[in-house]
Amino acid sequence: MKIAAPIAIAALMPALALAGEVKVEHLGTNNTLVRVSPEAGELLLMPVQESNDDARINVLVDGKLDRTMYVRLAKSKVDYSVPFDLTPYKGHDVVLDIVTEQNRSSVREAKDDVCWRNFTVSDTFDTTNREKYRPAYHHTPAYGWMNDPNGMFYADGVWHLYYQYNPFGSKWQNMTWGHSTSTDLVHWKHEPIAIEPDGIGTIFSGSAAIDSTGSAGFGKNAVVAMYTSASRSQMQSLAASNDGGMSFTKFNGNPVLTLESEARDPNFFFDPATGEWKLVLAHALDHEMLFFTSPDLKTWTLTGSFGKGIGAQDGVWECPDLFRLPVDGTGTQKWVLLCNINPGGPFGGSATQYFIGEFDGKTFRADTLADGTIPTKWLDYGKDHYATVTWSDAPEGRRTAIGWMSNWQYAAEVPTMQYRSANTLPREISLFTAPDGQIYAASEPSPELLALRGKAVAKASGFSAGKSARDFAMPANGLCEIESTLTPAKDAVITFTLSNSKGNKVSISYNQSDDKLAVDRTASGESSFIEEFPAVTAGPAFTAGKELSLRVFVDRSSIEVFANGGRLVLTNIVFPEEPYTTLSVSSTVKSKINSLKVYDINI
Ligand code: FRU
Repeated sequence: MKIAAPIAIAALMPALALAGEVKVEHLGTNNTLVRVSPEAGELLLMPVQESNDDARINVLVDGKLDRTMYVRLAKSKVDYSVPFDLTPYKGHDVVLDIVTEQNRSSVREAKDDVCWRNFTVSDTFDTTNREKYRPAYHHTPAYGWMNDPNGMFYADGVWHLYYQYNPFGSKWQNMTWGHSTSTDLVHWKHEPIAIEPDGIGTIFSGSAAIDSTGSAGFGKNAVVAMYTSASRSQMQSLAASNDGGMSFTKFNGNPVLTLESEARDPNFFFDPATGEWKLVLAHALDHEMLFFTSPDLKTWTLTGSFGKGIGAQDGVWECPDLFRLPVDGTGTQKWVLLCNINPGGPFGGSATQYFIGEFDGKTFRADTLADGTIPTKWLDYGKDHYATVTWSDAPEGRRTAIGWMSNWQYAAEVPTMQYRSANTLPREISLFTAPDGQIYAASEPSPELLALRGKAVAKASGFSAGKSARDFAMPANGLCEIESTLTPAKDAVITFTLSNSKGNKVSISYNQSDDKLAVDRTASGESSFIEEFPAVTAGPAFTAGKELSLRVFVDRSSIEVFANGGRLVLTNIVFPEEPYTTLSVSSTVKSKINSLKVYDINI
């Protein structure tokens, strides 16, 4: 099907003109049949009204149930349309058996729903961007809803990014693995959907890896994906790809792992030491991670658990990742266990906590402090960094991570409609020992992101920041990377403020007295969609010497602040009425700004 041609036929077509292609038969107050001719075109465009409830659509092909999807079919107005691919059904009879959940007393009322007049068949679907807040250089779906990045793997120079995707609307539903690829971690190409819901359930988060020995029986070097099949219960299933991750075939024996309680988001990897596969599974409501082992990815043995009563416990535990990294770039290695939790993050809602410790092949044990307690650590101190996991099989031992740049508190309410949610910039995880003797994870912008740097539109060096702010012009489109090194004076609070002519502003403030860096988005722009949006988020900067370094990436609706080589990261989304075009630098106590550059972005 063609999902790129910029011709907006859908909303304009008078429905009756298409009588031969779409035929509507009302069966009762809440049940309607829509007959579609797959010979008439490649796509059925389904009209959506976001505020409406989901209708259940059973797709009957030659009278047999082929699939079920849930779509917020329009009742009083069409917000946008979503495409349903008819090409697999050519030569067959297709009937949508639609059950709506509306409160109505007669069929007459059902007939008034605007959706019936707006189902259309077309060969094209317009994906031209309609959103002022769509990021210019962050990954987003072309249309529809996205949450967790998942199943990422690297092979032959290509970074594969799969993600939780609803192709039939811009709110969470119909979970499917969407797919994008990149050869440079900067530009992303939209690929066809990778894994679709089936009779066992929708396709929740999971992971993927290359089976270099063919131990799972899908062939040598098959890409194997493991995901949660979600319906009334959650089970773990397998799918394999023999075309480098472009299309997957599900394993006939699914599900391969079931439990008596809610468990999801399988994260697996091959352990060359034992020749076995290892799996971490989020035992979501029990606030712990479970560990399993398997010779073939199909039979799993429970070997341990970690987490009960440990770390942040105020939300469900989701989306684990487990990997080993050198500490301070030395030969000493430590294991890192990522445990995304929601809610219960430091600033409300979703966040990524992690633990440093040991994994003996059976279970994980976190390092303790001198008093025997286990500290809670956060990978990012912003409000919009969740479901973060890493690429498997990345080159040169890299641990490249990406997160969902939103928060379950408001992800479905943010002011976009054609699509919802972006991913963070990709980051490299490393481990460092802090002055308190503990080991922490840093996340630096991936080196490939240097390619985004355009010309320096503003630069200054060796100036002194004081109470009256010094202003710098940012690019007119607001898109930039700000790079600065500074020497804060004792007790100084140094503030970088991004602002626009509408009075929208975001401040990034470093407080020398407690070595904390804060991002204040309380006046950043549109925020009325939910009361939890305005926020100040802050975290420890780990400024080791006298100099603090900052890299700040500003896109149309996000600000990512990396301090001291990623020892602190703050990721926050923002919705300014117009781009921020002025950067103002001030300090409560005179402090030296050693260098400052504002680069525009190569896109
Ligand atoms: C995390 C999560 C996962 C689940 C997925 C469903 O954001 O809740 O636990 O697999 O989203 O879309």
